[in-house]
Amino acid sequence: MDRTGGIPISERGHDYYDDEHFLQAYMSRRNSVDNANDTLEKPVMLELIGDPEGLRILDLGCGDARFGTELLERNCASYAGVEGSAAMSELARRTLAGTAGDVIHSSMEDWSDPQASYDLVLSRLALHYVDDLEAVLERIVQSLKPGGRLVFSVEHPVITSTLQPSGTRTDWTVDRYFDEGFREQQWLGTTVRKFHRTVEHYFSALQAAGLAVGSLRESNPVRERFHSADTYERRRRIPLFLFFSASRR
Ligand SMILES: C[S@@+](CC[C@H](N)C(=O)[O-])C[C@H]1O[C@@H](n2cnc3c(N)ncnc32)[C@H](O)[C@@H]1O
Repeated sequence: MDRTGGIPISERGHDYYDDEHFLQAYMSRRNSVDNANDTLEKPVMLELIGDPEGLRILDLGCGDARFGTELLERNCASYAGVEGSAAMSELARRTLAGTAGDVIHSSMEDWSDPQASYDLVLSRLALHYVDDLEAVLERIVQSLKPGGRLVFSVEHPVITSTLQPSGTRTDWTVDRYFDEGFREQQWLGTTVRKFHRTVEHYFSALQAAGLAVGSLRESNPVRERFHSADTYERRRRIPLFLFFSASRR
């Protein structure tokens, strides 16, 4: 590990979440009013997932797994989260206590379940930490039943390509868009590495893995989902998230 700023720059994206201060900052951002996850990301994921009833679901990079409890309440057949951070896994374990849900503490790069037993693999805002997307997609495909679906969100390549520090921005510079690889961002008070890849790369990787792409979405804001008109206007300026839904042939 390399050290820059507060905590080490991690080889694996989940290591940041094991830092107490980072985790606290993340959870407080995640739960803030008009947070981007609830206003922009979750509604599109719910649309793409559709009715979860009866589905066996795997969630890669599940975080605190609160989405798992919602899916279980909506009668999915099973829910398992894979989470690389020990601290997050512990939160997920607590969230899922007393439910039929399960959490597996593992990097998604190290996880595999080639039983073709899942109807739905989902991943919310975790795959942009992974450098070898193709290897992870190969395992996802092996874990899906024929016809099973992968639905995921990532930080939009317009965002992962910007080299500016984060914060409440007033402008964005997309630069070196076609140079893929890890880029450092200032996020939640620390230096975080996220893997920048193009929209075309995500699309082609899904096809090459044997998945049929059904939907590509962006996080187009909807006014009713925001308390603050200013936040809504700001979110109209630049896409934060990119989504795909694809099914195993
Ligand atoms: C931005 S958070 C999103 C959490 C959750 N999916 C949500 O939407 O609330 C990203 C999560 O992915 C996990 N993560 C990042 N890289 C990972 C990896 N390579 N393997 C497993 N988990 C990973 C992090 O520990 C963190 O919990």
